[in-house]
Amino acid sequence: MAYIEFSGVEKRYGATQAVSRFDLAIAKGEMIALLGPSGCGKTTTLRMLAGFVPVSAGTMRIDGRDVTNVPPYRRNIGMVFQGYALFPHMTVARNVAFGLEMRGIPAGEITQRVRVALERVRLGDFSERMPRQLSGGQQQRVALARAMAINPDVLLLDEPLSALDARLRHEVRAEIRQLQRSTGLTTLMVTHDQDEALSMADRLVVMSRGQIEQIGTPSTLYERPCNRFVADFMGRSNFLPGKIGGIGCFVTEHGAVLSFEGNAPASANTMSFRPERTQLVPIDAVAADAHSDDVNTLAGTIVSFAYLGPVIECLVRIDDGPVVTALLTNTSELDALGMHEGSRAAVQWARRDAALLA
Ligand SMILES: Nc1ncnc2c1ncn2[C@@H]1O[C@H](COP(=O)(O)OP(=O)(O)OP(=O)(O)O)[C@@H](O)[C@H]1O
Ligand SMILES: [Mg+2]
Repeated sequence: MAYIEFSGVEKRYGATQAVSRFDLAIAKGEMIALLGPSGCGKTTTLRMLAGFVPVSAGTMRIDGRDVTNVPPYRRNIGMVFQGYALFPHMTVARNVAFGLEMRGIPAGEITQRVRVALERVRLGDFSERMPRQLSGGQQQRVALARAMAINPDVLLLDEPLSALDARLRHEVRAEIRQLQRSTGLTTLMVTHDQDEALSMADRLVVMSRGQIEQIGTPSTLYERPCNRFVADFMGRSNFLPGKIGGIGCFVTEHGAVLSFEGNAPASANTMSFRPERTQLVPIDAVAADAHSDDVNTLAGTIVSFAYLGPVIECLVRIDDGPVVTALLTNTSELDALGMHEGSRAAVQWARRDAALLA
């Protein structure tokens, strides 16, 4: 049974279709990430659920109740807005108390709930500070405490980490996730950072231009993207154009025969595979097992190596084909291969690591 349900939800601003036919069922306690490039409709979707933006079409339900036309303050949703959203002239405690005061909760109970909310985000000793006296990560945690103080049924987070630097981002990311797990609060989070979405959410919803491209678990989206947009957006991929040549068989534009596992859409026209699942092997080592069904092999010429610290990025121009990227994790292995720019080489990737895209 879905706890939150979007059915055919749309938003138009004049000629702009900000969100089109949005269908999504979210289970109680689930953490969902809405992911996509700038302007794809993430914030609009969140604000429609919160009630700040009226829908142009469709319905939204929370716990079976139709909330489509219910005013925001009667939806019992906690929200952390994009960017900083603390009131700069109020103390931390007053910021957190704000939503409770708006709901007419008695003063004694507010004090108590503010304390609990601040302790939850480990800021119990900061209640009398002003927002400007806090670090970015602390401010973000206050915003989170404020959203959770009202004991919401649903928590909405719009780019909650976007204002933080990389290190803090990782820290607060883990904290939010842990808080969400321990409270079991159904959460919808917006981000355009794929690492953030992959590491935090139970399921991801990838959007582009107001539409859902794919919904799935982090591993499904990464391992089995349904189209080129998702494959490209969820990290980097190699793409080879071609067409299906039979069961488990893909023929590239240049006539190379490759294999893949599972079903592919009949309209599939691209094979994709991840750079980190791509091996670089000496050209003379592959002839013997070039026809293996489990491994795809293509010969080419090394274009360049780039040292990136933990990995080395190698670009290889496939004979009569495009340039593909292999990420090599072991520098000594690379030295042992004795390969350099201009060398002949082969790239290999396992049949199970190939995804077919329409
Ligand atoms: N009040 C508004 N009036 C007119 N157009 C709007 C309004 N709000 C949003 N839009 C348009 O709707 C589309 C979706 O905007 P939205 O804010 O939902 O994008 P987003 O995915 O959150 O992007 P970002 O990652 O930049 O925050 C954009 O084309 C935007 O210009
Ligand atoms: Mg936005």
